[in-house]
Amino acid sequence: MSGPTYELEDFVADLRATLARGLPEEAMLEEAAAALRRLLANRDALARYRWALDVDRGPWLLHEDRDYGFCVTLLLKPRDRTTPVHHHERAWTLYGIFDGIETIHRYERHDDRSAPGRADVRLTADHIRRPGEVEIEPTYAIHNETTSRDQDTIAIAVRGRNLALIQQEWFDLAAGTVRSGPGNAARPLPARA
Ligand SMILES: [Fe+2]
Repeated sequence: MSGPTYELEDFVADLRATLARGLPEEAMLEEAAAALRRLLANRDALARYRWALDVDRGPWLLHEDRDYGFCVTLLLKPRDRTTPVHHHERAWTLYGIFDGIETIHRYERHDDRSAPGRADVRLTADHIRRPGEVEIEPTYAIHNETTSRDQDTIAIAVRGRNLALIQQEWFDLAAGTVRSGPGNAARPLPARA
């Protein structure tokens, strides 16, 4: 199924089918990103959930898969902000833009990890993502995002596993340092007033 009737449940079913095939990560993420684009193409897909962004900007947990462990989350990013540079360890991410425009900055690490707390991380690419587009971030891919100056972003971030279960890393490029800690886990949807 695709187009305007493709709902969250269709995406979850398609992603589960993709994961069941046991593809290499790159091929799996390409196939999964195509499914997320189908969901983003349905402009009504978030109608059931969007109210939660009026309560808080999330991330809100829309689905955590009991078999495969992936999490579908909904979030709002305020305009004119840049997030810290980081990766999500063993959790791959599909970052789908529903509303707004973001620049996703991608980096590579050049040091040999022999100096504790130190890291040499350099920018490699900027990807401008618009509504309906998906940024594919494999496991350990270093990245951050900048929202546009005049518009908030609404995004669906699909994580390969719950970020509460991983130890991800944040990088300070100016200082050449790295620190680690649990990821920012999504919360279950709040009670509706
Ligand atoms: Fe991230």
